[in-house]
Amino acid sequence: MCGIIGYSGICSVMPKIVNGLSALEYRGYDSAGVAFFEGDRIRTVKSAGRIENLKAALGDLCENENIKCGIGHTRWATHGEPSSRNSHPHGTERVMIVHNGIIENFVELKAFLADKGYSFESETDTEAAAKLIDFFYGESKNAVDAIQRARAMLRGSYAVCALFSGEPNRIYGFRKDNPLLAAPHEDGNFFASDISAVLAHTRRFRRLEENEIAVLDSKNITVLGADGCSVECVFETESRTQDSLEKCGFEHFMLKEIAEEPRVINQTIKSVIKDGLPCFDQGLFVGAEKIHIVACGTAMHAGMLGKYVIERLSGIPVFVELASEFRYRNPILGKGDIVVLISQSGETADTLAALRLAKAEGARTLGIVNVVGSAVAREADNVIYTNAGTEVAVASTKAYSVQLAVLFLLAVDLGHKSGKLEDSAAKAYVEALLKIPDAVEKMFAKKDDCSAIAQKYTNSKSIFFMGRGVDYALSMEAALKMKEVSYIHCEGIAAGEMKHGTISLISEGVPVFVFATDNRLFEKTVSNIKEVRARGARVVLVCNEKMDVPEGIADDIIRIPETEELFATLVAAVPAQLLAYYMSCHLGLDVDKPRNLAKSVTVE
Ligand code: F6R
Repeated sequence: MCGIIGYSGICSVMPKIVNGLSALEYRGYDSAGVAFFEGDRIRTVKSAGRIENLKAALGDLCENENIKCGIGHTRWATHGEPSSRNSHPHGTERVMIVHNGIIENFVELKAFLADKGYSFESETDTEAAAKLIDFFYGESKNAVDAIQRARAMLRGSYAVCALFSGEPNRIYGFRKDNPLLAAPHEDGNFFASDISAVLAHTRRFRRLEENEIAVLDSKNITVLGADGCSVECVFETESRTQDSLEKCGFEHFMLKEIAEEPRVINQTIKSVIKDGLPCFDQGLFVGAEKIHIVACGTAMHAGMLGKYVIERLSGIPVFVELASEFRYRNPILGKGDIVVLISQSGETADTLAALRLAKAEGARTLGIVNVVGSAVAREADNVIYTNAGTEVAVASTKAYSVQLAVLFLLAVDLGHKSGKLEDSAAKAYVEALLKIPDAVEKMFAKKDDCSAIAQKYTNSKSIFFMGRGVDYALSMEAALKMKEVSYIHCEGIAAGEMKHGTISLISEGVPVFVFATDNRLFEKTVSNIKEVRARGARVVLVCNEKMDVPEGIADDIIRIPETEELFATLVAAVPAQLLAYYMSCHLGLDVDKPRNLAKSVTVE
């Protein structure tokens, strides 16, 4: 989703902005722009499409040594098409802003401003916020006052960086519900919506709180509290380095990140094992009667899969829901209920809203989060980090796998603590989990088979994915992954549900990819395969190594290395991800940055 970088310093600003925006590309965007000071005049350059287009539009300005302060933005269109007119920055000769988030009352604000003589050039909500600040700046000639008065009228979410023509080489930043960081460096100071934008320069940063305004120039970063007085500015240090944002010899980030799964799963499992058992701080779950898992997209699919395993091992009922539904449903939460929010970014707007709602309803909350210090991590009562490292490819892979690993560990822990699993049984499950990284590694080694299979289906109009139980949950994720990066229509279906409607779409040659790692349900799934094959489907079957597969049931079989059956989906996720990856490559698509998608969905 949108990205922000700002810099004021002693160096030329444009390379810093362009490189910073490139580092934010992974978040997804469809236009980009910059605003900068030329003397005390603010100038903007914008363009639709990729950062390369912005660079071309900037021309010689890219090299201009005299320009030392500016703000840059990558826009993921919400209000108005992706065009240079709608791309940020927006504002006036006096005030220019870049904005992440959505101003919900922009129609109302535009009417207010139109009444004061303002007109609008773009279709964006951001332009209303910019002109509102300009209006108050016109009255008081004081940037902080203008921001505070405008902020009192803004509804929605925002991270904003602003330039004021009366204050050359100074940048103002403020936020609500969207992250914004101020980061110091000896050559100048930065604003960024995400530390990745500035990791090439600094790992130190200060997260802005919601009621603060930060002001930076080439020498200082000043943070003002709600009363306008300066507050202490203590910097944190990011543990990741610039290396985590490199492809390290892989052709794409998505493949690199799938390849990293054995290491990150291993790391995650080992980090929570003590004396052969998972050791979470589980005060939270004492007396838990129900668990609600709330998340979006891939994270929700991890929750769907976790439900089967947690219920089986602990006997605690688990309900899984999309955060965008949960937040507006008036969910009925009992006293003993735990709400678990799963999120790679920890910034997903709906997940964050669901967390706040759950807390307001008095539920206890746990965040399972990848990005350290993100909003969900900070606001949840408890947090478990997934430690997958930076995920750059827009389509989530290693973060999903580590979310599964954490949910499986939690299932063992809850089963053990509830008395449903004896010590020896819990330890045996942990032993089995410790073998998973090896199996994942072996599975990854078969990547060429996945490539060859994907090649056979590049002409498909639709692909169906089906399975039962945990394999149904995995089918949902496999379908999402495939559609995200291949743009082929895909559906994930519970195998037993196929004949209740979707089978009408099966005809000669339609591909059905089947996951069948749960041996107890294998025969049932075979019956479903026969039903689709009888109607001409071409079948790719993913099953366990030793499974006795009836002759002629599938066109291709991907066998996953032997593992504890209850956790086998963690291994089967690899071919699900690789099939999607190779399909996208064979189709010549931009696998790391699929069209229209954003990595961190910070708007509803
Ligand atoms: C799919 C994908 C998305 C995210 C979803 C939630 O590959 O990445 O479906 O899973 O937007 O994001 P997080 O986990 O950051 O809350």
